[in-house]
Amino acid sequence: MQVQFNEIRTKVNADLEIVSSMKEIGDLKAKYLGKSGEITSLMRCMKDLAPDQRASYGKFVNELKEEVSLIIAKKEEQVKQAETLAKYEREAVDITLPGEEASVGSLHPLNIVKNKILDAFCGMGFEVFEGPEIDSDYYCFQALNIPKDHPARDMQDTLYISDNVLLRPHTSPGQVRTMEKKQPPIKILSPGRVYRADDDASHSPMFHQIEGLVVDKGVSLCDLKGLLDEFVKIMFDSDTKTRFRPSYFPFTEPSVEVDVTCCKCHGKGCSLCKGTGWIEILGAGIVNKNVLEMSGIDSNVYSGLAFGLGIERITMIKYGIPDIRTLFESNVKFLKQFNRR
Ligand code: DAH
Repeated sequence: MQVQFNEIRTKVNADLEIVSSMKEIGDLKAKYLGKSGEITSLMRCMKDLAPDQRASYGKFVNELKEEVSLIIAKKEEQVKQAETLAKYEREAVDITLPGEEASVGSLHPLNIVKNKILDAFCGMGFEVFEGPEIDSDYYCFQALNIPKDHPARDMQDTLYISDNVLLRPHTSPGQVRTMEKKQPPIKILSPGRVYRADDDASHSPMFHQIEGLVVDKGVSLCDLKGLLDEFVKIMFDSDTKTRFRPSYFPFTEPSVEVDVTCCKCHGKGCSLCKGTGWIEILGAGIVNKNVLEMSGIDSNVYSGLAFGLGIERITMIKYGIPDIRTLFESNVKFLKQFNRR
């Protein structure tokens, strides 16, 4: 019996000499200690022994089993450590190598400027309302005090889809749609794409505008001046000044065009402002009473101010971009300049 046990001991030790992976350790455990392993089988022989020999035989087998389990466990620990070390070496990262920078997109300059304008006005309590790009003659013209035969229709080279349906040439219909839905106090911005049959260095057939409208009791030209003064200080430099020039729009009375001191020369005169020191940025005025009335607002109780600005124009002034078409060419080199990461 002892001879048989010793043989097993020698075999286990010889086998352990050559194992080098956890898988081989597993196989070895099965070979000796598994259900049909060699040591487990020794136990089964017990029934063939004389009863008085069984107890000591069982004790010896158990001792052998414990001994073998122990030396396998020791080896297992070594193999495990070796495998972990090898894994670490395989997966080692050289942290001194330069990293690969993930390329991330950035906002288009028109979106940067649009967000800045919306932020400036939203900070003053304005809400945003977006109207449809395909709209009717009524919302684009008639409800804005521009009847069918009005000469002001020549101001916009409108793209018609049918007699009464058109691509909106301005975002001013946003005024009407808001006033129809909401009673004063109203304080909204209506941003979006607009379309005109016009195409050169300073005009694009599709461009973006933001319309602003405030309707409440006692709204005056002073409020308009204060509001726009604050806006240009946020948008350009804090020392930027505004000036109102008399103008004409059918939907406002009085109407003004608003100039700001040139952001490049600060009013001294340069090529951007053509030597005048001033740059025109938007049209505005006090909402024509007819427009209020047509949209169901009592013009004896309420008055309103409105303004409309072109996002491309402001972007070109702010960044000194001479040709509007650059904004739509998707030239990555150009666009990357606005990535302020
Ligand atoms: N709708 C005008 C345009 O497209 C811009 C404008 C001027 C809007 C004066 C206004 C305004 O609300 O009061 O040129």
